[in-house]
Amino acid sequence: MKLSTLRQLNTETFVDLFIKCFKDSKDRDASQIASNKEKTKQFIQQLHEREGSDHDPDGWIAASLENKLVGFVVAIQESGRGLIAEVGVEPKHRRKGIGLFLTTKGLQRLKERGLNQAFLGVDLENTEAISLYEKLGFQKLPWEIYEFEAKICPI
Ligand SMILES: CC(C)(COP(=O)(O)OP(=O)(O)OC[C@H]1O[C@@H](n2cnc3c(N)ncnc32)[C@H](O)[C@@H]1OP(=O)(O)O)[C@@H](O)C(=O)NCCC(=O)NCCS
Repeated sequence: MKLSTLRQLNTETFVDLFIKCFKDSKDRDASQIASNKEKTKQFIQQLHEREGSDHDPDGWIAASLENKLVGFVVAIQESGRGLIAEVGVEPKHRRKGIGLFLTTKGLQRLKERGLNQAFLGVDLENTEAISLYEKLGFQKLPWEIYEFEAKICPI
């Protein structure tokens, strides 16, 4: 598997990846966005601008197999914590460990940036994603509906 980041790719690539990976997502808001290319473009653009001048191209990581992009993770910094903003894998390449690998890479990047805590939001119906995140040590915050948090351990 080959990894590339926003240093080699452009945001348009992540628009296409988001559509491919999220169209069947159990995250209802995300699948709705992925069903519309213009909405997806806006969404990715907003995500791209979210860190402002702290934008980190190395937190946008895409995986390819045989020169075809199959999945991605976006790991950014927000309010002093790391945020796994998105992780997705193309349906035909799921259950091969790619999602877990990419999320680990995103967490590694956050650690390189000096962050020890990471959080994410996930639709509680998205049980496969929750199972993946729990494997990495994320736990649901009791006072939040969709938010999970983890200590970033040395990887
Ligand atoms: C969630 C997602 C990224 C998982 O990617 P993946 O490459 O299939 O995941 P992995 O193969 O690395 O699986 C890691 C673990 O996640 C859990 N998991 C993944 N898919 C699962 C499924 N369909 N059912 C149950 N558990 C699942 C398992 O615990 C799995 O470990 P195991 O294979 O040893 O049982 C993928 O299903 C996806 O892209 N979904 C649509 C986009 C989305 O909803 N992303 C999350 C947004 S918050």
